[in-house]
Amino acid sequence: MKRILLRVGGLLVVLALLTIGAAAGLAWVLGPPTYDEYSAGDFEFEAQGDVVAGRRLAELTCVRCHYDPTTDSLAGRRLTPEYKALGQAHAPNLTRDEVRGIGLWTQAELVMLLRSGVHPKDKTRLPPWMPFHPGISDVDLANLVAYLRSDDSWVAPQRTPEKRSELSFRSVLQAWAQWEPGPAKLSVVERPPESEPVALGAYLANDLLQCHGCHSASVETVDWVFPHKTDGFYQGGAKVTDLAGNTVVAPGLTPSPKAGIGGWTYEEFRRALIEGVTPVGKIVRWPMPTYPRLTEGEVSAMYAYFQTLSPNNTPLKRAPPYRVSPKIVDPGRHEFERLGCPSCHAPDALGPLSLDKVPEKYPDDASLIEYISDPRFVDPDAWMGAYGKLASEEEMAALAEYVRRRVERGPYAPPPKE
Ligand code: HEC
Ligand code: HEC
Ligand code: HEC
Repeated sequence: MKRILLRVGGLLVVLALLTIGAAAGLAWVLGPPTYDEYSAGDFEFEAQGDVVAGRRLAELTCVRCHYDPTTDSLAGRRLTPEYKALGQAHAPNLTRDEVRGIGLWTQAELVMLLRSGVHPKDKTRLPPWMPFHPGISDVDLANLVAYLRSDDSWVAPQRTPEKRSELSFRSVLQAWAQWEPGPAKLSVVERPPESEPVALGAYLANDLLQCHGCHSASVETVDWVFPHKTDGFYQGGAKVTDLAGNTVVAPGLTPSPKAGIGGWTYEEFRRALIEGVTPVGKIVRWPMPTYPRLTEGEVSAMYAYFQTLSPNNTPLKRAPPYRVSPKIVDPGRHEFERLGCPSCHAPDALGPLSLDKVPEKYPDDASLIEYISDPRFVDPDAWMGAYGKLASEEEMAALAEYVRRRVERGPYAPPPKE
């Protein structure tokens, strides 16, 4: 009797395994599921947005992935490897080019993609690497869409070669098992007023700027539809990579002294967000964006919101600080590393955001220093942070000399003699 039971049990296990295998194989052959019931017709949107306000939103969100430094536009780029288990992500061309960009998309198609996360063309749900916004308010959505269809130089048509993301086997399985699209119809979403700071802060952090996308357990399991259902919501620990390929761990944002921002004053929080410097004077590394365009009211609303989260008291293992070469060996390189420039421009200054045009565009040190001190003073469209307050005149001079030397003469050129 016992033997028969064992045999039947074994057979069942084998059958179950075969079924799972067959289902996984089928999913791989079929590709990710499609949501054919979603239609752009259900996302017709009346509101007329404001282009300038929309550009600010694009700078606060879209730019960090869709910016292409070679064309100085939103023509897209290959993303860093933090999603490698899910495949290779490529942020597409968002310019108004009619072939390679989104020039022929209707307003309703854009609204459908941003609110529901379902791609209006192939009806698949976007992989987690494209943060869609089910909770974005009507005002912000109208502004963003107006911007994407405007004459701004960032969205002027660019016909760059077409590159698409590739999903891994694992992500196709996850697409069937886990990836949920947002609502299938348009509904009214209000932006909370400044008189309700906690509600406004929650809106900004979760629905608009989506801080939980990095500051939770993992970037792979983030829930864009119901942010608070994200694994380890604001507890931190997600591993991300900077533009030089180094791993950086995102801390929690709960009021915990061990794994969050417990004990931070409002001023300290504001400085981290706007200038990119922590209370102990550390530079906040990419991919943590700096948000120079946020208003005081917005930053204080988010601060108020994070104070209401329940603290996570398990200490986090943060990424070690970058190695900084000694000042006496090469003062310019020391500044370049101390200020965290390699996290975006790569250690050789020739990474995805290459500085190879520096000699041509900034022929003398004064103009280069002016740019690094406050990029928006030189080019109102720049989105790199300002470094003027973080280095003395002497340090800035050494930094400018180093940047120039590195791109003009390569890694082995010695620093100037005293
Ligand atoms: C974290 C990186 C990231 C951010 C931030 C981001 N995107 Fe994307 N976006 C992507 C990636 C990657 C894809 C490609 C999706 C895929 O693999 O199917 C994409 C796809 C898109 C598409 C589809 C384009 C096409 O041709 O298929 C649109 C439209 C889009 N994003 C708009 C935006 C807008 C507007 C913002 C800002 C509100 C934004 N994205 C922010 C990474 C990002
Ligand atoms: C693309 C991922 C990403 C997004 C989006 C993001 N952060 Fe971060 N953030 C990070 C990473 C990674 C660090 C750690 C940087 C380091 O160690 O140098 C960080 C650091 C911080 C710090 C400094 C904390 C400390 O202990 O060093 C604060 C404060 C912060 N983020 C707040 C925010 C807020 C608020 C938002 C949303 C408005 C946000 N972040 C959005 C990735 C992100
Ligand atoms: C958070 C990412 C980031 C960090 C960190 C960063 N930069 Fe940049 N930098 C950029 C981006 C993006 C651009 C392209 C212009 C823009 O802002 O739109 C840029 C442009 C520049 C340019 C002008 C290049 C050109 O062709 O016009 C210089 C020079 C420069 N950075 C130097 C530095 C130095 C020096 C540091 C360190 C003190 C630094 N950057 C840190 C993102 C960054």
